[in-house]
Amino acid sequence: MAIKVVYWTGTGNTQVMADSVVAGVKKGGADAEAVFVDNITADALAAEDKFALGCPAMGAEVLEEASMEPFVTALEGKVSGKKIALFGSYDWGDGQWMRDWVSRMQSAGATIVNGEGLIANNAPTDDDKAACEALGEALAKA
Ligand SMILES: Cc1cc2nc3c(=O)[nH]c(=O)nc-3n(C[C@H](O)[C@H](O)[C@H](O)COP(=O)(O)O)c2cc1C
Repeated sequence: MAIKVVYWTGTGNTQVMADSVVAGVKKGGADAEAVFVDNITADALAAEDKFALGCPAMGAEVLEEASMEPFVTALEGKVSGKKIALFGSYDWGDGQWMRDWVSRMQSAGATIVNGEGLIANNAPTDDDKAACEALGEALAKA
C-alpha cells in the first residue's frame, strides 16, 4: 500500500514539499503518492498506520480553514498510535502554526516523525527539498 502524503496548497510551495516527501519515501524503499486533501476522506487515511500531512501557515498561524482544518478535526480522534510526518511552507511567521499542529497531533496520541514538523520559508530551496526527502525516508522507515 502506498504511503499517502496528503497536502493542501494555495500557491504550490507545499505541493513541491509534498512531491519531495514522496520522493524520499520511495528512496526509503516504500511506495508513496501525493494526494490533495479534498481527494481523500479522514476515514480512508485513518486506515493507514503511517502517513504525511502538509499544510502552509494560513489565517493567523493556523491551518487552511476550508479543507485542511476540518480534515484534521475529523482525523484527530483516529490518530492514536499512528506515525505522522508533518510539513508545510510559511512566510512572515516563525513556525507557530506548525508547533501548534505538532502538539495537537501528539495530544491525540500520534508519534510525529523526527519529533517536529518540517517547515520551509516560501518556495522550498534545494536544501528544503533535501530535508523533505529525508523526512519521507524517515517516514518510510518509521
Ligand atoms: C491568507 C493567507 C494567510 C497566511 N498566513 C500566514 C501566517 O499566519 N504565517 C505565515 O508565516 N505565513 C502566512 N501566510 C503565507 C503562506 O504560508 C506562504 O505564502 C506559503 O508559502 C504558502 O504556501 P503554499 O504555496 O503551499 O500555499 C499566509 C498566506 C495567505 C495567502
